[in-house]
Amino acid sequence: MTHTQTAQETADLEHRPEAPVATGRAPRPDIVGGDVPEPPFPIRLQGPVQHGFKRGSKDLGFPTANLPDNALEPITSSAQTGIYFGYAQIAPRAGESNTLRDEDYKVFPMVMSLGFNPYYQNKTLTAEVHILHDYPCDFYGHDIRTIVLGYIRPELNYISREALIEDIRTDIRVGLKSLDRPAYSALANDDLFLKA
Ligand SMILES: Cc1cc2nc3c(=O)[nH]c(=O)nc-3n(C[C@H](O)[C@H](O)[C@H](O)COP(=O)(O)O)c2cc1C
Repeated sequence: MTHTQTAQETADLEHRPEAPVATGRAPRPDIVGGDVPEPPFPIRLQGPVQHGFKRGSKDLGFPTANLPDNALEPITSSAQTGIYFGYAQIAPRAGESNTLRDEDYKVFPMVMSLGFNPYYQNKTLTAEVHILHDYPCDFYGHDIRTIVLGYIRPELNYISREALIEDIRTDIRVGLKSLDRPAYSALANDDLFLKA
């Protein structure tokens, strides 16, 4: 069996290979992974939401919450860079001003980008979670808790912003469809998440 490079191994390379450019690809499968999450999933991550590079996620229409670097080891040691799906929850931290509504603290589906965002040519590895919920405002400093349940695709480079947006839209469809199976949706109630 060939060894797939973990995200940490990719980050440690002196010269990382360039990500492939997405070109009029064949239609993508609308569901990924087996009927139950397979190792290394589920992977649980949590930490205070960090500021991202602010170059594009809001601009693209897909705001993301970045996990802190020191929270990434469980996924960077066991999974490759790429796009993932699962569930996430924002939880208030003691001492932080609480600006969200009660309904914003529920568990929601998420899609996550783990890697170097080749389109933006980031030099450092980030984990950016796009939670499928319309939050009324930013929540930096709040805790993000997330359970990663499967891999969708590798990170790609794009000839246009529109092409990247189109692929993220597909990632969301694939993520939601892939979560819509009993062994996956059951994990929205995982012990990681705070109960109301
Ligand atoms: C589901 C999802 C998939 C993404 N896929 C890619 C990708 O394949 N290539 C890429 O360069 N960036 C990808 N992005 C990352 C966006 O480029 C990222 O959100 C952008 O860098 C904005 O980050 P910033 O607000 O920290 O600047 C993806 C983001 C999400 C949420």
